[in-house]
Amino acid sequence: MLSRQLGAGALRRGASLPAFRQKNALNLSRGLAVRNASTASSSAFESFLNSRLTLVSVSLFTAGSVAWYTHLYGSLPFLAQVHASHASDEGLHPPEYPWDHKGILNTFDHASIRRGYQVYREVCAACHSLDRIAWRNLVGVSHTVDEVKAMAEEVEYQDGPDDEGEMFMRPGKLADYMPNPYANESAARAGNAGSLPPDLSLIIKARHGGADYVYSIITGYVDPPPAGVEIREGMSYNPFFPGGALGMARVLYDGLVDFEDGTPATASQMAKDVVTFLSWAAEPEHDERKKNGIKAVILFSALTLISLYVKRFKWTPLKNRKLIYDPPVDKKH
Ligand code: HEC
Repeated sequence: MLSRQLGAGALRRGASLPAFRQKNALNLSRGLAVRNASTASSSAFESFLNSRLTLVSVSLFTAGSVAWYTHLYGSLPFLAQVHASHASDEGLHPPEYPWDHKGILNTFDHASIRRGYQVYREVCAACHSLDRIAWRNLVGVSHTVDEVKAMAEEVEYQDGPDDEGEMFMRPGKLADYMPNPYANESAARAGNAGSLPPDLSLIIKARHGGADYVYSIITGYVDPPPAGVEIREGMSYNPFFPGGALGMARVLYDGLVDFEDGTPATASQMAKDVVTFLSWAAEPEHDERKKNGIKAVILFSALTLISLYVKRFKWTPLKNRKLIYDPPVDKKH
């Protein structure tokens, strides 16, 4: 098709050109004839592809194969895994919560991060580490530098060796990382009936469902478990956890902590705050990222408008101008 158009165009142009160009045009048209031969065979193939009979028979063949396969194996390929497991193995899907920082223009609620840190420190830190967060990270986010220094100094860190080659303990500094509740993994497992409390630094990113999932986990315990569900000693039933049996018992109860800003410490309030804190821990660059994002959108839209303007009003007249050679008039005649 393309070659035919090209050939025809070339011919037409050839006709209006001086004689010496016409030879070229003829060559082109000969080329066209040769191409036509191949176009003819491919158009037969095209008409086969486009024919209704082909369409109907291919559809029948597909439907037939699917029917035959389902008759033989009872289900479709690739869907088998879904059938092989029970819905509860995947865990209940968490509902979507309206987090303050969810929208593209929204930043973290920093008062909530501050309360969430308190919940983490007073409740979760008994079992969960927060390896990737250093004290200094809290400065300017949830606490002032003096507050953070004071909090760090309450924790003893091992340092050294000193001049005598001895390790010694010293109060924490801004550069230290959050202390671990257990000395090592075995101690953590031993303290929790064999389950390992995961590090919470990246838990929001590490779990399907993110903040919604973690919120649902810590508020979603069902006690006693529904009829027919067997839970081993030391485990708790939580429908949001894949499998349903969680090695962490319910930890949040109304009034567990005292918020300094007077917010009522209900279980759901504490859960919301600690999840906001953990969302920040998993993505400390979040606020900055959105701010830079919106700057980039503004900047690039301005640049797009400018380039459209330049293309339309400055470049187009140059691109479309026609240069005509006006030969000098022979004055002799
Ligand atoms: C008494 C110790 C203890 C406390 C306190 C505790 N946890 Fe846990 N947590 C665990 C253990 C043990 C597990 C591992 C459970 C498992 O794998 O079955 C766990 C698992 C988790 C998980 C991971 C679930 C998953 O999908 O793997 C999250 C999230 C979590 N805890 C959040 C918290 C938060 C938030 C707090 C504070 C409000 C908290 N935990 C307090 C012991 C604790």
